[in-house]
Amino acid sequence: MITVLVANPKGGCGKTTVATNLAAAFANGGLRTALADADRQRDGLHWLKLRPGAVPRILGLDWAKGDRKSPKNVDRLVVDCPAGLRPWRFREFVAHADVVIVPVLPSPFDERTTERFVKRILRNKAVRKRRVAVGLVRNRIRARSRAADRLETATARMNAPDIGEIRDRALYVDLAANGLGVFDLPTPRIETIQADWHPLLRHVETAGWEAAGRRGRTG
Ligand SMILES: Nc1ncnc2c1ncn2[C@@H]1O[C@H](COP(=O)(O)OP(=O)(O)O)[C@@H](O)[C@H]1O
Ligand SMILES: [Mg+2]
Repeated sequence: MITVLVANPKGGCGKTTVATNLAAAFANGGLRTALADADRQRDGLHWLKLRPGAVPRILGLDWAKGDRKSPKNVDRLVVDCPAGLRPWRFREFVAHADVVIVPVLPSPFDERTTERFVKRILRNKAVRKRRVAVGLVRNRIRARSRAADRLETATARMNAPDIGEIRDRALYVDLAANGLGVFDLPTPRIETIQADWHPLLRHVETAGWEAAGRRGRTG
C-alpha cells in the first residue's frame, strides 16, 4: 500500500481537491482506494456521499477525531489533512505516510505560509531519512500570469521537489459538487486536464514505493 498525505496548514490551497482527484484517479486505475478525511469540515467524506454508484468505489474513513487506523486490503490510502495543522500534529500524520503532497497557490500569502511549513516538515526525522517523500504541487495556475511565474520562483527555493502544476479550471468545482474527479470522466473530452495530474501520479508511484521500501527495511 502507498499512503499519500495531502497537507498544508493554509486553507483553500486545494488539499481536498488534490486528495479527491488523486483518490478518483487511483480508483479508476483499478486500485483499491481509501480516502481518510482528517479535517473537521469533512469535505472529503461529503464528496464521497455525493459520488454516484456508477463510478469506481472509494472507501471513506473519518480521521477527524483522532482514531486513525490504516485500512487493510487497500492499495492506495489518501489522507486529506486539516487546515491549520500544527507541526507537532503533523508528526502523527507522517507516521502513516509514504508521500506528502503540499498544494500551494500563486499568492504571496500562501507562498510564505507554505515555505515555513515545508521548512518545518523537512526537519522531521522520517522525512530526513527519506522514509517519506515530500513534494510540492502548484495549484490553480493561470497560464502566462505573473503570479504563476512568481510561484515557480518560490517553489524552487523550498528544498522539496516541485512535482508540477494543476491549472485553474471551473470544472473542478462542478465535479466536486457531484462527487467526481477528473479521472471519473470519459477521456478524450478532458484529456488535457487529466494530463496535469500525470506527473503527480507518476511521482506517487516512484517516490511512494521508494519510501515504502526504506520504511520496510528500517522498520
Ligand atoms: N485547480 C483548481 N481550479 C479551480 N478551482 C479549484 C482548483 N483547486 C481548488 N479549487 C477550488 O478552490 C476551493 C478550495 O479548494 P479545496 O480543495 O477545498 O482547498 P482546501 O481543502 O485546502 O481547503 C474549492 O472551491 C475548490 O473547488
Ligand atoms: Mg479541505
